[in-house]
Amino acid sequence: MAADVIFEPLKFRNLTVKNRVLRSNISGRFDNYDGSGNQARINWEAKFAEGGVGAIISSFVPVSIRGRIVPNYATIHRDDCIPFWRALGQRVHQHDCRFIMQLSHSGRQQDIGGVENTIALSSTSKSEPLHGFRCQAMTQQDIAETVAAFAEGARRAREAGLDGVELHGANGYLITQFLSSGINDRRDQYGGSLQNRARFLLEVVQAIRQKWGGTFTCK
Ligand SMILES: Cc1cc2nc3c(=O)[nH]c(=O)nc-3n(C[C@H](O)[C@H](O)[C@H](O)COP(=O)(O)O)c2cc1C
Repeated sequence: MAADVIFEPLKFRNLTVKNRVLRSNISGRFDNYDGSGNQARINWEAKFAEGGVGAIISSFVPVSIRGRIVPNYATIHRDDCIPFWRALGQRVHQHDCRFIMQLSHSGRQQDIGGVENTIALSSTSKSEPLHGFRCQAMTQQDIAETVAAFAEGARRAREAGLDGVELHGANGYLITQFLSSGINDRRDQYGGSLQNRARFLLEVVQAIRQKWGGTFTCK
């Protein structure tokens, strides 16, 4: 009987997923240079929904152009991104599949950020050792703007009718760059103690919750 649990609904506070089979974040360069999405991504996501997964957690979705790892990932950085994500959500919802957007920012860890990205933003001004692109430590204004970009990304995901958001806080990207004592060399209130290093992430969470009362409305 225990094996059947995987096909039982999974309930979160405001979200019920029809089973416990979730498609994890897998990125791919399906989309257009400018961050607009295209049919290839919709077809790809729809295959998992048709196959019966309860929910799809998207790949890395940049909340700003400066937060890209590479071009050709669909972004959520402007309101005109909303119709694409709405179309994608509607397509996977046809199969009673939920869609969670992974809100993301590369910080200094970019493969090729694109011609617009000359100097990346990070918690530090030290370059990422693998790729070596130049970066600069974010000012408090940069931090405030980036926190707002995450909150706006969540607002757009919600307006697109998606089912929730996940913050990409792993794999060396911007949130990790603040959390990690091996990367974050700041001397202000965003560096030093764990509480300070977590401040950026907590501000992102609070900004999203303040804006939307902590809930996504689920169908
Ligand atoms: C091609 C590829 C793309 C990935 N893209 C993302 C991503 O966009 N966001 C993310 O959080 N993880 C990403 N991951 C990590 C996977 O979601 C997963 O955590 C990782 O592959 C470990 O799981 P596995 O052992 O089943 O492969 C990616 C992994 C691969 C191989």
